[in-house]
Formats: sequence, C-alpha cells, structure tokens
Amino acid sequence: MNLVVADGGFDAQRDSECQEELAQKLILHEFATALQLLDVDGTLVLKLFGCQTESIRMAMRSMFDLFNSLEMTKPISSRPASSERYVILEGFKGLPAQWEGGQNWINNVLIGRCLQRDLSFYTSSVDHYLDQFDSDMLVLNLKACFAILSHLERKNAAKELCQSKREEKNYFPSMGGRNRDIDVKLYRHAWQLFI
Ligand SMILES: C[S@@+](CC[C@H](N)C(=O)[O-])C[C@H]1O[C@@H](n2cnc3c(N)ncnc32)[C@H](O)[C@@H]1O
Repeated sequence: MNLVVADGGFDAQRDSECQEELAQKLILHEFATALQLLDVDGTLVLKLFGCQTESIRMAMRSMFDLFNSLEMTKPISSRPASSERYVILEGFKGLPAQWEGGQNWINNVLIGRCLQRDLSFYTSSVDHYLDQFDSDMLVLNLKACFAILSHLERKNAAKELCQSKREEKNYFPSMGGRNRDIDVKLYRHAWQLFI
C-alpha cells in the first residue's frame, strides 16, 4: 500500500491522565502492521498520545531509521485540549534485510534493540524534536484551557449584567437562571490551572 493510516483509540483511554501508557500496546501493533503493509516509498499517518514512554520513544527512533522523513502534527480539527497528535512518516525505505516479522520488531522495541545506529545519534536528533513538540503541545493545551475558561467567564459576566439590568427594570424575575451558569472556578480547579 502507498498510504496507511492508523487512528486507534478506545473508551478506557479516552479521558485518562495516562493515555500514552494505556495506548502503547495498540500503537506498537499499529506500527508493526503498517510496516508489513507499506510499499517502498509509502506514507504512514498514525495517531499518538505522547512520546515520553520508553517503548513509544524507541518505536519512533526506529521509524526515523525506516522512513525518509518524520514529522509530528496537531491538525487544526483536533481538539486542542486533547493530547492526540499525529506522526507523518514519508518515504518508507522498505523492511530491513534482517526483518523477522512485526511481533519480533515489537519485542526488539521493548528491549531497546531495534536501532540501526548508536543511541546518542537519536537523542540529539529525533528525541530532541519529539521533546520540543511535546513542550509546544503542552503550551497549546494550556492556552486552549485558559481561552475556554476566559470565554466562559466573559459569557457569565455578560449574562449577569443582562440579568441585573432586567431585574432593575423589573421586567422578568431571574427564573433561577443563575443555577445553569457554568462554575468557571470548578473547571479551573479540575483542570489544575493554578498558574
Ligand atoms: C477514533 S476511532 C477511529 C475512527 C476512524 N478513523 C474512522 O474514521 O472511522 C478509534 C477506533 O479504534 C478502534 N480500536 C481500538 N482498539 C482496537 C484494537 N485493538 N484493534 C482494532 N481496532 C481498535 C476502536 O474500535 C475505534 O473504532
């Protein structure tokens, strides 16, 4: 195949704080399946939830060996507060001569024996790039959470102003509308935005 896409996810992992850990097994199998399916020069687009665990990090280093280019992206249509992001791998170089199947590749990833060069090469190239991307995404997540909260605060303030003007003019009583307001402080606390 010229193009393989993998967008796997499951309910137990959706709202968890350790999405990357929970999705590791699925992601490693998606990588292994894609490697078996792709033609030389093919492209793989695969959803990830972070690259901090040792197995995902090792898989990404191996992908760096097996493709001509590796790029991370967070599409505009992807919810900013979610940790999902995609790796785009272009120019598949083909399976290495010593390839012994997808499960064997996974085993080698897990014991850190899937690389074609010294580890130091990857730490200064692919690891550096992945860490930078993680940090950029964290900033994006925080900005998105703050933007959502300040929008809600402005909305609440405008509603309260409107309500008190109405009450001043004695048009309608408040009808208990305040109960339906979103408590922005509760959200700020739940999202642990103490900065
Ligand atoms: C975000 S959805 C993907 C939606 C898909 N891209 C589409 O447009 O229909 C994630 C999918 O991964 C599937 N999934 C989760 N774990 C899986 C597994 N171990 N094997 C196969 N599919 C799996 C789920 O059933 C779910 O349909």
